[in-house]
Amino acid sequence: MITEKAPGKLYIAGEYAVVENGYPAVLVALDQFVTCTIKESAREMGQIFSRQYHNNQLLWRRMGDQMVVDKRDNPFSYILSAIRVTEEYARQFERELRIYDLQIDSQLDSQNGRKYGLGSSAAVTVATVKALCRFYNLPVTKDEIFKLAAIAHFEVQGNGSLGDVAASVYGGWISYHSFDRQWLAQQRQYLDIKSLVDLPWPDLQIESLHAPENLQLLIGWTGKPASTSQLVDKISLFKARRQDDYHRFLEESKSCIQRMVDGFHQQDLERIKREIRYNRDLLKQLGANSGVDIETPVLNRLCQIAEQFGGAAKTSGAGGGDCGIVAIDQNADFNAVLKSWAQNHIEQLPLNVHFISDIKRRVYQNPPLHSPRHWRVQQHLPLH
Ligand code: PMV
Ligand code: MG
Repeated sequence: MITEKAPGKLYIAGEYAVVENGYPAVLVALDQFVTCTIKESAREMGQIFSRQYHNNQLLWRRMGDQMVVDKRDNPFSYILSAIRVTEEYARQFERELRIYDLQIDSQLDSQNGRKYGLGSSAAVTVATVKALCRFYNLPVTKDEIFKLAAIAHFEVQGNGSLGDVAASVYGGWISYHSFDRQWLAQQRQYLDIKSLVDLPWPDLQIESLHAPENLQLLIGWTGKPASTSQLVDKISLFKARRQDDYHRFLEESKSCIQRMVDGFHQQDLERIKREIRYNRDLLKQLGANSGVDIETPVLNRLCQIAEQFGGAAKTSGAGGGDCGIVAIDQNADFNAVLKSWAQNHIEQLPLNVHFISDIKRRVYQNPPLHSPRHWRVQQHLPLH
């Protein structure tokens, strides 16, 4: 029996802009996990099972006389895609494919199957890829796990940045620049999966960040789930209709994230807080210009309360519900924020940042004893 886990994540800043190739975001991995357990089956049929996904529904819309199912919010789509991609990779290592039972246990979905917005689809994809790599004894590094999981996730969701997959694979605080997904989709038609994974991916850049000691992260949950893929679809319409405004937003977001990353390099909490506030304003403006409800009234209250007590707050991720984040000085009275949140029916998620030991070496044979926390992955294609 093999068990692997992958953490959930939250976006700190850079949302929506990071959907465009090469644009950056800051994310953090959290100590709340999706676990994937694989057991060889003696039967002719395998089973894919999860207690948390019992109550899942299927969303669909009509296009003429066709019924089109939206698979993007169905966790089983990500599990099946992760299996398909990892088995394709395993076949290239000449592994014989087997029959197994696969069980998913998710702490990222509440008991009644509702999601917190902590990246459950990314984490379920990463956990499944990791477990299958071990099941088939495939020698993989973090970079390879990221690429396999990114391909699997992209083939279901199609419109995401994959920053959540990066946070789930690399752990800790990261800055993430999204890779060129059009390039990936094209190369996928011509290259075998191993060659594709071995190539550097254009624009991909992932850097581990070191947060200042006095940075305390608070997470507030609105209690209302939001669909990232549907919100991103709506912003795509805005992109087409108001190209100038959209490009201004992209550039402003990029500079803001660069200044924020500098704040991490300088261990300067005040600078990080300033850019969180700036990024919040950019996202509010994007919401107002596009008519997309990014900072909902509950998220607005969540932020206002945190600001009252000296925190820098904003929506996290696509907004529309899910979570808000706050950066506050460890020595400030952050209990006052939590108390006021509770009075306003905002639930604190008491989670911590989760670091993952470096598996650049062939960890499945030889787990490293010491794990460097900081590294940089920069990918560019060789120029011809
Ligand atoms: O709401 P979340 O945590 O799924 O974050 C979505 C962030 C976006 O930038 C809006 C989309 C993406 O894929 O990066
Ligand atoms: Mg969300």
